[in-house]
Amino acid sequence: MNAESSVISEPLIVGCWQLDNRSWKYLSETEVERTLDTYLAWGVTHFDTADIYGRSEKLLGRLLKGRDCTILTKAVLFGNIPTANQVRSKIENSLRNLQRETLDLVQIHWQNPQLDFTSTLEIFAQLVEQGKIRQLGVTNFNTPMLKKAIQFAPITTNQVQYSLIDRRVENSMQSLCLEKEIMLLTYGPLVGGFLADKFRGVKSPPPENEHARGFYYSSVIMRHGGWSPVQEMLNALAQVARKYELTIAQVALNWVKNQPGVGAVISGLTLERGQIQSNIEALQANIDSADLQFLSEKSADLFKQEGDIYSYERG
Ligand SMILES: NC(=O)c1ccc[n+]([C@@H]2O[C@H](COP(=O)([O-])OP(=O)(O)OC[C@H]3O[C@@H](n4cnc5c(N)ncnc54)[C@H](OP(=O)(O)O)[C@@H]3O)[C@@H](O)[C@H]2O)c1
Repeated sequence: MNAESSVISEPLIVGCWQLDNRSWKYLSETEVERTLDTYLAWGVTHFDTADIYGRSEKLLGRLLKGRDCTILTKAVLFGNIPTANQVRSKIENSLRNLQRETLDLVQIHWQNPQLDFTSTLEIFAQLVEQGKIRQLGVTNFNTPMLKKAIQFAPITTNQVQYSLIDRRVENSMQSLCLEKEIMLLTYGPLVGGFLADKFRGVKSPPPENEHARGFYYSSVIMRHGGWSPVQEMLNALAQVARKYELTIAQVALNWVKNQPGVGAVISGLTLERGQIQSNIEALQANIDSADLQFLSEKSADLFKQEGDIYSYERG
């Protein structure tokens, strides 16, 4: 699918996992409403959620009702192969939560690659034909899974983890997506916020129970080489950031957006207006390709990139 016909038309997508108060600090509805208004007022109209992000879908449905925006959700499939009714009722549930007649983009997460997803994808393809879903995507599909999936359903996007620390997407997924015109939507561009000025010079990652940094991205860092290379990466990012009067986080976001095949960068919802503005400006900044290349080479020297998409996460 080419970029003109995609439902994704902006470089920044707001990640709404942060509205799941089982994994994240509780945010009041007033705070969330004010923050969504800020994003919309500043021209950011794409939001990413999932059927498994607790109250996130329902809250977005209520607060974004009637607003001109695009909501990406996910159909997360753990366990056995679902029946057709189970798939349909999952989609009906998301339609109810989001208070929509049609879902803009449904991204399928299939946990167990040993199970055959063919019949399930065919049901999703029917739901597109029936107008329940505008476009279909996948998330965390590895290369063999995606090669197979596109034979059975019109897949337009793959949502994957991508940052200067985790570049497994480059092993084989990126070239497949470029060849098949499948847009990469990238999560974790700041490695949960570790790629930011406030972590430069910090001796070890702090324990944080209510933040994905503490329970998700710390283990990503261990898998790719540990805390000491992260500090070297932060120094390299700071060097480029100084040159352009940007922050480390801005350069890290800009680097991901400039990688081949990346259609949009997903950055987690933040209440801080300064961070919202900074993330919007990050994607408008012009950083010379030589400086982006310098960061790519630094990252290639510092971090291991073994395996395909979502390899260690599946266990
Ligand atoms: N498909 C999947 O399996 C999957 C997995 C994970 C995430 N996701 C999606 O991707 C979204 C984004 O990923 P993520 O939030 O995990 O990772 P991320 O974007 O790398 O990190 C977000 C964190 O970075 C910090 N931050 C944001 N802007 C900043 C700035 N300008 N300067 C400094 N720090 C900044 C904030 O933390 P502090 O302000 O607290 O420091 C924020 O919570 C999620 O909400 C979700 O929608 C999908």
